[in-house]
Amino acid sequence: MDLGIKDKVAFVTASSKGLGKAVALQLSMEGAKIVICSRSRENLVKTRNEIIEQTGGIVKDLTVDVTQKQQIIKAVDQIIQEFGAIDILVCNAGGPPAGMFEDFTPDDYRDAVELNLMSTITLCYEVIPFMKKQQWGRIINFTSVSVKQPIDNLILSNTSRTGVIGFTKSLSNQVAKHNITVNAVCPGYTKTERVESLARSFEDSGKGTIKDFYKKVESTIPMGRIGTPEEFASAVAFLASERASYITGITLQIDGGFVKGLF
Ligand SMILES: NC(=O)c1ccc[n+]([C@@H]2O[C@H](COP(=O)([O-])OP(=O)(O)OC[C@H]3O[C@@H](n4cnc5c(N)ncnc54)[C@H](OP(=O)(O)O)[C@@H]3O)[C@@H](O)[C@H]2O)c1
Repeated sequence: MDLGIKDKVAFVTASSKGLGKAVALQLSMEGAKIVICSRSRENLVKTRNEIIEQTGGIVKDLTVDVTQKQQIIKAVDQIIQEFGAIDILVCNAGGPPAGMFEDFTPDDYRDAVELNLMSTITLCYEVIPFMKKQQWGRIINFTSVSVKQPIDNLILSNTSRTGVIGFTKSLSNQVAKHNITVNAVCPGYTKTERVESLARSFEDSGKGTIKDFYKKVESTIPMGRIGTPEEFASAVAFLASERASYITGITLQIDGGFVKGLF
C-alpha cells in the first residue's frame, strides 16, 4: 500500500533512539522528509546518518529538549524556514522514572507533566497554525498502555500521560474541519533501551535476573513476547499517512494484547 506521504515533512521528537527513531526511519522509508531531535547531539548524528544510509532520504537533526518551550519554538521556526511546512508531527518524549507513591514528591509529578503533557501541548500550539494554513496535518501523540491499564510501579507515567489522552481527543474534535487528524498511540512492552534499563534495575534491586524480568513481562502478554520498535513504527506510519484520513481522536494500543479491557 502506498501511504501517500512522499515529500511530506515529518517532525518526530525524542527520536535519537528507540521508538522515536524507529518511527523516523519508517517515515523516511515512505519518502517523507524527516526532522529528528533529542537532547544529546552524539546519538542524534549517529541516527541521522543511519537513516540516510538506509533510505537515502532527507533527514535533519536538531538538538532540542522538549521540556523547554523556547527550544520547541526555535525548532519549529527552523523547520519552517528550511522546509516551508510541517505536515506530520509525532510528539514523543522520554519516560518519567519508575517508582511508587512513597518514592516521589509533588515536584516529581510536575516534572512528569512537563515532560509528557506540556511538551505535547506546546508542540501542537506551535505546529497547528501551519497545518491549518495548508489544510492538511497528522499529529500522533505518544503515551503508554498505562493510560488504559495503570502499571503499579509507574505512578508518574500513569498520571502524566492520561492528560495527553484528554488533550488529544479534545483537540481532534476542534481541528478535524481543517483536515488535521490527532491520535494517540500506546506502546506496550517494546524492545528498546528503556526496557533494557528497566530489566537491569529489576536485577539490581534483587528481584531476579534479567531473564526473569523478560519471562515475567512476557507472561502478561497474550502474544507471549515483547514487541519490536518496527511493529510499533508501522502503526504510527499508517496513522501519519494519507490512507488514515478518516481516523481521528483514537487511542491505539500496540501491545500484543497486553491491555485486558474492552477499550
Ligand atoms: N519501550 C517501551 O516498552 C515503552 C512502553 C510504553 C511507553 N514507552 C514510552 O515511549 C517513549 C519512548 O520510549 P523508548 O523506549 O523509545 O525510550 P528510549 O529508548 O529511552 O528513547 C528515548 C528517546 O527520547 C529522547 N529524549 C528523552 N527525553 C527527552 C527530552 N526531554 N527532549 C528531547 N528528547 C528526549 C532520548 O534522547 P536524549 O536522552 O539524548 O534526549 C531518546 O532519543 C517514552 O516516553 C517511554 O516511556 C515506552
